[in-house]
Amino acid sequence: MGTKITDPLDKLPSSLKKDLDKNLCTCNEVPKIDIINAIANGAITIKEVKKQTYATMGTGCCTQQVEKLIEYLCAPGRKERRERGRKG
Ligand code: FES
Repeated sequence: MGTKITDPLDKLPSSLKKDLDKNLCTCNEVPKIDIINAIANGAITIKEVKKQTYATMGTGCCTQQVEKLIEYLCAPGRKERRERGRKG
């Protein structure tokens, strides 16, 4: 079943491990832990996360936060650099 992240929380900085049960996507009431689990199970793009959890489907205001989680969970050690290089 593809590559799974066994312990997703291990990859997150402590600042992102807080409030796991609170809604990250308040528009659709999707708790952060649900999004983390979706990413850990292979939803590594905003589109996939959206499909699986409905996060970002409101006004899209949580998209950046979801992106951040994807960055941390999928590209350990390269997070912000890559982003910066692209937007530059
Ligand atoms: S909080 Fe997720 S779309 Fe608004």
